Amino acid sequence: MKDYLKQDEWNIIEEGFYRKHNKISESIFSIGNGRMGQRANFEEKFTGETMLGSYVAGVYYPDKTRVGWWKNGYPEYFAKVLNAANWIGIDIEIDGEVFNLAECEVDNFRRVLNMKEGYLERTFKAKLKSGNEVKVEAKRFCSIVDDEVGAISYKISVLNFSGGINISPYVDFDVKNEDANYDEKFWVEVDKYVEPKGGYVLAETKKTAFQVCTGMRFQILKNGDSADDNAGVFSREKYISSDVKIEVKDGDEITILKYCSNLSSENHPKEDLVKNTQGAVNQAFAKGFNTMLEEQRIAWLKKWEQSDIIIEGDIAAQQGIRFNIFHLNQTYSGEDARLNIGPKGFTGEKYGGSTYWDTEAYCIPFYLATSDQKVSRNLLMYRYKQLDKAIENAVKLGFKEGAALYPMVTMNGEECHNEWEITFEEIHRNGAIAYGIYDYVRHTGDKEYLIDFGTEVLIAIARFWTQRVHFSERRNKYVMHGVTGPNEYENNVNNNWYTNFIASWCLKYTVGAIMYMKEIAPEKWTALEGKINFYEYVEMGEWEKIAENIYLPHDEKLDVFVQHDGFLDKELIKTKDLPAEDQPLNQNWSWDRILRSCFIKQADVLQGLYFFEDLFDEDTHRRNFEFYEPMTVHESSLSPCVHSILAAKLGMKEKAYEMYLRTARLDLDDYNNDTEDGLHITSMAGTWMAVVKGFGGMRVLGEQLILNPSLPNEWKSFSFKILFRKSLLQVIIRKEKVEIKNLSSKNLHLEIYKEHYDIPAKSSAHFNNEIG
Ligand code: BGC
Repeated sequence: MKDYLKQDEWNIIEEGFYRKHNKISESIFSIGNGRMGQRANFEEKFTGETMLGSYVAGVYYPDKTRVGWWKNGYPEYFAKVLNAANWIGIDIEIDGEVFNLAECEVDNFRRVLNMKEGYLERTFKAKLKSGNEVKVEAKRFCSIVDDEVGAISYKISVLNFSGGINISPYVDFDVKNEDANYDEKFWVEVDKYVEPKGGYVLAETKKTAFQVCTGMRFQILKNGDSADDNAGVFSREKYISSDVKIEVKDGDEITILKYCSNLSSENHPKEDLVKNTQGAVNQAFAKGFNTMLEEQRIAWLKKWEQSDIIIEGDIAAQQGIRFNIFHLNQTYSGEDARLNIGPKGFTGEKYGGSTYWDTEAYCIPFYLATSDQKVSRNLLMYRYKQLDKAIENAVKLGFKEGAALYPMVTMNGEECHNEWEITFEEIHRNGAIAYGIYDYVRHTGDKEYLIDFGTEVLIAIARFWTQRVHFSERRNKYVMHGVTGPNEYENNVNNNWYTNFIASWCLKYTVGAIMYMKEIAPEKWTALEGKINFYEYVEMGEWEKIAENIYLPHDEKLDVFVQHDGFLDKELIKTKDLPAEDQPLNQNWSWDRILRSCFIKQADVLQGLYFFEDLFDEDTHRRNFEFYEPMTVHESSLSPCVHSILAAKLGMKEKAYEMYLRTARLDLDDYNNDTEDGLHITSMAGTWMAVVKGFGGMRVLGEQLILNPSLPNEWKSFSFKILFRKSLLQVIIRKEKVEIKNLSSKNLHLEIYKEHYDIPAKSSAHFNNEIG
């Protein structure tokens, strides 16, 4: 756990240059806009600890799979989000000496991520080996208004010398991925052009042939006057730069304004890329840095108006939740159904930038309640569009007749994960994808989605479960062998309760969806039946039989659901009895020891209780929580939020709060010692859920919005907004009272503390806080 960042409500602040934590800071201070993202690398040269990261959404490379023992069915490649052109770079020489922060004495270093207005700022004083001193003030952002554009303002003040400064803004496509399997570079130059104050490099990915054109245009001022008239140019393979020499003396101020754009062939015809890139940088240049920054401020204010959570009385918690919301909004804007949310977003290479079950299980609730419904609809459409590939994927594994197995990890719909116990066995992801549809429909009421797209996906998933179970004569039940549940610290188990339960739920939900579609849209149903060769009486009958007769392990004596067939034969130890130096287990224990132990990586049975809580009574929740929580090590970032929500529901306020802090400040405090790889973006949505669903007690059941708010003892108050079926409401929770403001122009009906109320448009209602 690290504690080097200052606490502040709206900013993330590093004061003093923590060189050894620089890669962690590079992740934390990342900026992005849903279309491109940039780690907090420095503009000037830096040879210290760093991982360069500049990412363009949707552009990936299928790196040849590298495993020791090839298993039939493995995907040929692992898709990787690509480190793309370095567009922020500005090389500087001061009186002949390269300005490299790793070799300078650095004073008054301050790095600030301004989350309210959406920019990154860095100021410091540096003393070079020559003794020459400069002060630097740098600011940059990825525009959320023009989402293919980034802008930088970099100001150098000369403190104690006279001489020459050489400034070379550049674009460098000669970059690599740190995680390349064969140390290969993935970009090939197609074209480049450089002129005294700008230019571009157009590059293409090997194999996938995506093209990205990165352009720049800049302006350099000395004490406010133009100083870039004598710019020279330089280029080499995949690289362009301009070169400006300026004579300076004490007190002079040099300002570099650099405008860049990253356009990809995903969004522009290849033949127009260069022209459009030039158009984009010229437009940014014409607007100017200050106008763009002002637009950015206004656009971010709008985002915050809808998605902010205000916590009074606890700065650490306030900063934590805003940090999470900020990064979620930087990662996915929901405008493009081809894009999704990688576990690290645009902040690192780990997990390849691909899509996991995290999206449906964790991210959708956040976007449902804080953005227009088209945002989460696009996340569902992403899977709909990949249905054919999910069917192909199932065929490769021996399934047939339209059964679909969605990939555990994917970029384009194809599976690209290659650890057998996950690729072949972590099939519960299919359940999460069905659950995402259910969650979307109940929150938005958009049943048309179910008719036009959802039911087709559900049927393909139901077909998969039907073929994946088998009938056990001994048990007289349907069973499912050889799976890995959400708890990846056990593999190849039989009858994982969570997987069996979600399979049975999927089958029932699909039957319901079909009945609804038949009744409401019979013609569309007939068309769908034909398209997918559906045999209603055979298939639905079988689904119902399986759903009702699936084996769900349960222990009579303990009266808990059993994680899988062998779980209770393990030595059942509590995490509190684990020596501190053994944790995290995945960094200290051998893998076989982890597998044999009872320790649970992340919510598993409890994930099921969280998803389907209305199907179980409170005592069942409590017994299972009290049994499983003490054995859970939360070594997946996705875990503490689920435990926090369940603990809040069960009135275990301290536990709920402990788990909340662990999720909210996971990256800021580098809790799992891995923030340098990138931020845990998908679990950030879990943090939001821990506040809104946990402390706020927000649920949607049927057509009903439900709230059961309680206030953590450490907070004076907290408030959040939610969009529910086109109504916007704000919930403010104080110790004694809960206030609900209906901000929309229609009547709002809701249930709070088990009573039903109507709150007229544009008005507020007050309730006693019944939980405390
Ligand atoms: C978790 C998975 C998750 C993945 C990506 C793993 O550590 O166990 O459930 O999908 O990370 O976030």
